[in-house]
Amino acid sequence: MKQRKLVVASTNPGKLRELRAILDKLPLALVSVGELLPSLHIEEPFGTFAENAAHKALTVARATGELALADDSGLEVEALDGRPGVLSSRIAATDPQRIQWLLDQMKDVPDEQRGARFVCVVALATAAGLVGSWEGTVAGRITRKPLGTHGFGYDPVFYYPPFGCTFGQLEPERKNEVSHRSRALRRLCAALPDILRQLEEGPGPDE
Ligand code: IMP
Repeated sequence: MKQRKLVVASTNPGKLRELRAILDKLPLALVSVGELLPSLHIEEPFGTFAENAAHKALTVARATGELALADDSGLEVEALDGRPGVLSSRIAATDPQRIQWLLDQMKDVPDEQRGARFVCVVALATAAGLVGSWEGTVAGRITRKPLGTHGFGYDPVFYYPPFGCTFGQLEPERKNEVSHRSRALRRLCAALPDILRQLEEGPGPDE
């Protein structure tokens, strides 16, 4: 199978590293959209992760003419009816401020009601349209204070019961074993060989 370019709709080096590690067995040359179109700015205007991921993947696929991959992710907190959700990165300006916002919202919430989950949707598109999207989630609990210095975002306040610590206390490799993003990417990865074969063969005679 010939190597195909895959443009990733992210300039986040951490996400690109994670993608390369997970997709390295496939005949794909990963390129960040920042290398091809440094001034392209993509909004995340929708109310669901799936719609935002599809919108980003389609925008990049149409702008570059290449196969494009995008993700959208965030934290859904049960006691806050799923907030901050798709607004996870926009709720405040910096990670410490976002964590403080969350802890303030949760200050009167008892231990047994502090459930939360990270959600990630990855979407794949060509200039002709959306190819598919895949979701990954991981469930945990919101702590009462930040613990650990690894990761980013809400990791220091996301306690993961199977490991007995927060994501902020985990080395990146350990987090990647179970993270919402790696779960979504593994699903995509399982579907990709068939998808690449179909793209190589092109549309059938009836299409
Ligand atoms: P986006 O997917 O780049 O739009 O990021 C959404 C936001 O959700 C991030 O800025 C973080 O605040 C939060 N988030 C998403 N994934 C994670 C994670 O793995 N750890 C901690 N926070 C995350």
